Amino acid sequence: MTTEMPRLLYGTAWKKERTAALVAQALREGFRGIDTACQPRHYHEAGVGEALERAAAEGIARESLYLQTKFTPPDGQDPENTPYDRDADLSSQVAQSFRVSQHNLRTDYVDALVLHSPLFPFAKTLTAWRAMEAISNAGGALRLGISNCYDLRTLERLYGEAEIKPALLQNRFYADAGYDIKLRAFCDANAIRYQSFWSLTANPHLLGSEPVIRAAMQRGMETPQIFYAYLIAKGITPLDGTTSQAHMQADLKVFDIALTPNEIAAMDTLIE
Ligand SMILES: NC(=O)c1ccc[n+]([C@@H]2O[C@H](COP(=O)([O-])OP(=O)(O)OC[C@H]3O[C@@H](n4cnc5c(N)ncnc54)[C@H](OP(=O)(O)O)[C@@H]3O)[C@@H](O)[C@H]2O)c1
Repeated sequence: MTTEMPRLLYGTAWKKERTAALVAQALREGFRGIDTACQPRHYHEAGVGEALERAAAEGIARESLYLQTKFTPPDGQDPENTPYDRDADLSSQVAQSFRVSQHNLRTDYVDALVLHSPLFPFAKTLTAWRAMEAISNAGGALRLGISNCYDLRTLERLYGEAEIKPALLQNRFYADAGYDIKLRAFCDANAIRYQSFWSLTANPHLLGSEPVIRAAMQRGMETPQIFYAYLIAKGITPLDGTTSQAHMQADLKVFDIALTPNEIAAMDTLIE
């Protein structure tokens, strides 16, 4: 059975040796979705696996969790610490990377396998995707997704040519990309979940905006909570990489926030 993708995911980048403890804590607090990557430069994927094992011992079964990892192409890897053979062909690299993820995460399957970024030319993106489809067809990945894809044409082509359609797009949510308005419309029309990162760090001006501050003050909440609630109301799934227990607890309360249509409309004007 496929586990539903939670509306807020815990992000595991840059946590190094604290990864296992922080992921275990996030699961204890109530997060049920985890984002990681087979990219030692930024992620300690084995630490996530350790946390999953601890969580299972505490009664949080793997099957109750949504776990996603990524295949990171060679350009995104540290040449000195690449988790696959840099000289192998691309399809073999995808397969090798996934085997490392299975080992690190101590699981046979992931809920989503994500291509960390498109490759150029497009034919290489498709080669990587076909290798990911093979993993999916063998039961290793329940969904496939793509990240750092800011070109609508690329997403459309991938969607058109894929046998297993992308189920998620994970992008930086920021002004320079126009908040991906066209990409998000394409996602909405094609059952692709849009996941945001840099949601807080790229947008201090939105967190400090009048509609967000007013909504926070009226509810006695913090502006990040309101902003996450807004994103979720828009159908966006934020990645939350907080290292603070207080923030974990506060952020999980966003599901209790019901923004009014007027509040949402006022926030829409900030990003549209
Ligand atoms: N696909 C990609 O290329 C890519 C790139 C970057 C990130 N990601 C994913 O996205 C995840 C999130 O990364 P991110 O860059 O969006 O930022 P983030 O790691 O979530 O950082 C958020 C920052 O805001 C602070 N903060 C203040 N109030 C907060 C609150 N209530 N809740 C949460 N944070 C609060 C945090 O500090 P405290 O720690 O003190 O709370 C932290 O410094 C990563 O872990 C990774 O999984 C993916």
